[in-house]
Amino acid sequence: MKRETKHDARYAVGGNWTMSGPMQLERLQKYGLKPHHTLLDIGCGSLRAGLLLCEYLNTGNYTGTDISAEILEAAKRFLAEKGLAHKAPVLVLVNGLDFRELDGKKFDYVHAQSVLSHMPPEDTDALFSHLHKVMQKDSQFLTSFFLSKNTELYSGNNRRNFFYPFLWMKETASKHGLNVEQVEDTPWYDKQKLLRITLKH
Ligand SMILES: C[S@@+](CC[C@H](N)C(=O)[O-])C[C@H]1O[C@@H](n2cnc3c(N)ncnc32)[C@H](O)[C@@H]1O
Repeated sequence: MKRETKHDARYAVGGNWTMSGPMQLERLQKYGLKPHHTLLDIGCGSLRAGLLLCEYLNTGNYTGTDISAEILEAAKRFLAEKGLAHKAPVLVLVNGLDFRELDGKKFDYVHAQSVLSHMPPEDTDALFSHLHKVMQKDSQFLTSFFLSKNTELYSGNNRRNFFYPFLWMKETASKHGLNVEQVEDTPWYDKQKLLRITLKH
């Protein structure tokens, strides 16, 4: 990630900014995101969607986390170039999946695009186990993932991509007190599927 970000911080998060950014914003809006909502973008990268989300949300309502200091530096640069610093996004360098850096803050929406698709199952399990720390009763977690072509969980591209059966997602989420639905097929230019996760009441 460090090398890729140095080379091109737009390409490092997957490129395709003209389609992926608007797609992510429109999808969140489809699931009810309004400017007054707070949003946590896990693995926000260099703000492919984050720039549009900062523009859309009220001041201070966008929080992005990432494990890469380099990508967050690029994110800050892009924010400044777009004149969006006044929207006061909160960008947080994290060191794991337990949200300890967020000091107990909860969000209306939690979002992760192209993050679980690169996460091994033990990390996805860990992420699910900590979601209750950042979600409240009516929060929604919208996350993309690669759907397995069979009933097995497998990796590809030298363990850079992970393909999950829906049943694995459902059972793992349930174990951590979460409901999960696979809500739609994503457009042709995004090979991932979408999950909508909520807390079990
Ligand atoms: C493929 S990029 C996608 C970035 C952004 N969501 C987008 O769609 O443009 C995945 C990002 O997730 C970050 N990441 C990976 N594991 C993470 C973790 N445990 N917590 C936060 N960010 C993570 C990576 O550093 C990278 O910036």
